[in-house]
Amino acid sequence: LDSGDAAPPITEPDPRPAWVHVELGPRSYDVCIGRAVLSSLGNAIQGLAPRSRSVAFIIDDHVPAALVAGAIAEVGAVRTTCSLHLAASEPAKSLGSLETCLRFLAAHRIERADVVVALGGGIIGDLAGLAAATYRRGVPIIQCPTTLLSMVDASVGGKTGINLASDDGSLLKNMAGSFHQPLAVIAELAALDSLSPRLFRAGLAEIIKHATLAPADSGLWELTTNFLTSTPASTHHLLAELIRRNVELKAGYVVADEREELPGSGGRALLNLGHTFGHAIETLANVSPTDDLADAPLMHGEAVALGMLAAARTAFELGTLDGDSVSKIVAVIELAGLPTRVRGLPSPTEILARMMDDKKTTGGDLRLILPFAIGDVRMVEHLSRAAVTSALRTIMR
Ligand code: GLY
Repeated sequence: LDSGDAAPPITEPDPRPAWVHVELGPRSYDVCIGRAVLSSLGNAIQGLAPRSRSVAFIIDDHVPAALVAGAIAEVGAVRTTCSLHLAASEPAKSLGSLETCLRFLAAHRIERADVVVALGGGIIGDLAGLAAATYRRGVPIIQCPTTLLSMVDASVGGKTGINLASDDGSLLKNMAGSFHQPLAVIAELAALDSLSPRLFRAGLAEIIKHATLAPADSGLWELTTNFLTSTPASTHHLLAELIRRNVELKAGYVVADEREELPGSGGRALLNLGHTFGHAIETLANVSPTDDLADAPLMHGEAVALGMLAAARTAFELGTLDGDSVSKIVAVIELAGLPTRVRGLPSPTEILARMMDDKKTTGGDLRLILPFAIGDVRMVEHLSRAAVTSALRTIMR
């Protein structure tokens, strides 16, 4: 999985930075997407947090050293800086890591007007976000996503969180967290150049999720399939455009339903398509996307891809999604190089029990987000367990 050509080579001039505004009244902010945009981080902090004196970086170890050094130097020219480097992994998105972050902020005497910068993928963004939300009852954060997944999804919308260990030792995903909107999001496209193909593909899963949600006349499904079938020469601009369109779509849901409170369809909960299934299998130690156990566990995006397939097949079982649409969803996931079936999953009944533990269930009722068509995704309550278990069998090898 770590060979291949998922991360597109750069063959064209840089696209201009794009901006997406997230309108949330006093919590509004902009998302800046482009190359060399991290060089504006110092200016952004001066403009957005004029009273700040210090900036605390929380940095994913996987971010290329040159990008890290550049960002710290830019900010160092205008503010005192300190940095904490963490090795991001799902088990590290823990209470212990949260404590490490909080103690780091306290040790550097970060004050209420100062700024935290999260530089990394979704795990660092979620963890640093929760540290910023809770340290001194809340300090500002700027999210600087460096993976495709965090650019199109995790960094936008203010969700922060950590996992909790359950009594059986498995992880309960994002079980503790808060909504803490950033001051800004700065998505540095150069960070994608060094992403492993596997990590890049994991981000494509959230892009496919958005394409399935987007209204059919939005063209997002076509843009996504164009990107996935494009020749390397044209991928550079297409990718920038695809990320911008994904951020716009995500921002629309966040603006409509900031705290995921709207019942039924139309709310932010629809963004959880594939996630209840995905969370139930994501942290299983012996589930690999390939035949090689060394690739276990699944990455979040891989689990979401499998979850979207299980959701599509549940909808097919219920008679609400036609076979042609299921085939299209399978085809686009295959095109992205994401897994469609995996070995080592527990029984459907056991997965179902884990799904009931996910925080998206209510009062013992199984509630899932299911596609009714490409461009028509809805929340369905009181689901038939038989339909779900039958769908789960189709992602097992
Ligand atoms: N990742 C789904 C959301 O932010 O609501």
